Amino acid sequence: MLEIKDLSLSVPMQQTPVQAVSHVSLSIKAGRVMGLVGESGCGKTLTAQSILRLGEHQGITKINGDIQLHGESVFAMSEKQLRKVRGGKIAMIFQEPMTALNPVFSIGSQMLEVINLHLDLNRHDAKLHAMQLLEDVGLQDVEHLLQQYPDALSGGMRQRVLIAMAMSANPDYIIADEPTTALDVSVQKRIIALLRKLQQDKGLGMLLVTHDFGLVAEMCDDVVVMYAGEVVESGTVMDIFDYPAHPYTQALMGCRPEVAKSEQALTVIEGQVPAPGEWSEGCRFAVRCPYANTDCELPIAANAWQQGEHIARCVHVCVRDERQENIKADISC
Ligand SMILES: Nc1ncnc2c1ncn2[C@@H]1O[C@H](COP(=O)(O)OP(=O)(O)OP(=O)(O)O)[C@@H](O)[C@H]1O
Ligand code: SF4
Ligand SMILES: [Mg+2]
Repeated sequence: MLEIKDLSLSVPMQQTPVQAVSHVSLSIKAGRVMGLVGESGCGKTLTAQSILRLGEHQGITKINGDIQLHGESVFAMSEKQLRKVRGGKIAMIFQEPMTALNPVFSIGSQMLEVINLHLDLNRHDAKLHAMQLLEDVGLQDVEHLLQQYPDALSGGMRQRVLIAMAMSANPDYIIADEPTTALDVSVQKRIIALLRKLQQDKGLGMLLVTHDFGLVAEMCDDVVVMYAGEVVESGTVMDIFDYPAHPYTQALMGCRPEVAKSEQALTVIEGQVPAPGEWSEGCRFAVRCPYANTDCELPIAANAWQQGEHIARCVHVCVRDERQENIKADISC
């Protein structure tokens, strides 16, 4: 189990640090895929990167809460332990495959560096392992590929190389932050199919950060929806698709091209996500919510509405069916 418990983070601002993630809790279970969704600027990447404490060098600081891998706090780990966890027990795949590879080193040297850090193999076996990993992600002519530099590869090939590197130490968990956003649509589909296959074959736990509800439907078992630095809804993928409880989730789902009604243009939810430091005391979605009233001006509990494991940070969910029909996509995504 990989657990984020009541995590709040601050980001550096000119005058003073400002809270950008507040009281986020989520659990990624072994063998399950959790989708982390929300508009741009909601805190998805900050949350995902915090699992490996990757933002600390940029001044991103934990205010409260904890992150535990198999019961052990990552904040209690030494740099040495963290290096073992990063890419060892937990691997990360980023959005932009070019920036994640170093252009001045060959694919082989970058793969061997990762393999040597985590596995005790001699040079020959490490090379064989690297070739096997590249074949596992569907790449060909792998011996030649090891000698090539990132520039010589297409975006899809680079992302496959990064996935191969991520798999090199048999991780328990993969964090994939918009892993296909920078790729062409046809390549996206193949990379997603590959990730799904690897996840299933190896029983990995996965945190998949995405804007795309179609991808959530295809890949995920569980879903967490974030808005303005906090979790506004979470549940299984069935819960969220059958019964999107929070008006924000409903609006986001209304923005899916395949569910948008034909006469509606594809648009975005009107208004903007408030930036860190500009959050209201009460519901942070209120200024954009068609159902807001004075009840929404007080702080709203994370589980203001709850049915089993399905929870929503909203005080007016009971009118959901009516709301579903009424929700106007004057929203156009
Ligand atoms: N290093 C940083 N310094 C200052 N502010 C930051 C930093 N990183 C993120 N932020 C701010 O924190 C908020 C959340 O950022 P984050 O990158 O987590 O959003 P996101 O949900 O991943 O968005 P996107 O979908 O665009 O990737 C944003 O307002 C962002 O500007
Ligand atoms: S708490 Fe109020 S403002 Fe917030 S989402 Fe629910 S109805 Fe809308
Ligand atoms: Mg992001």
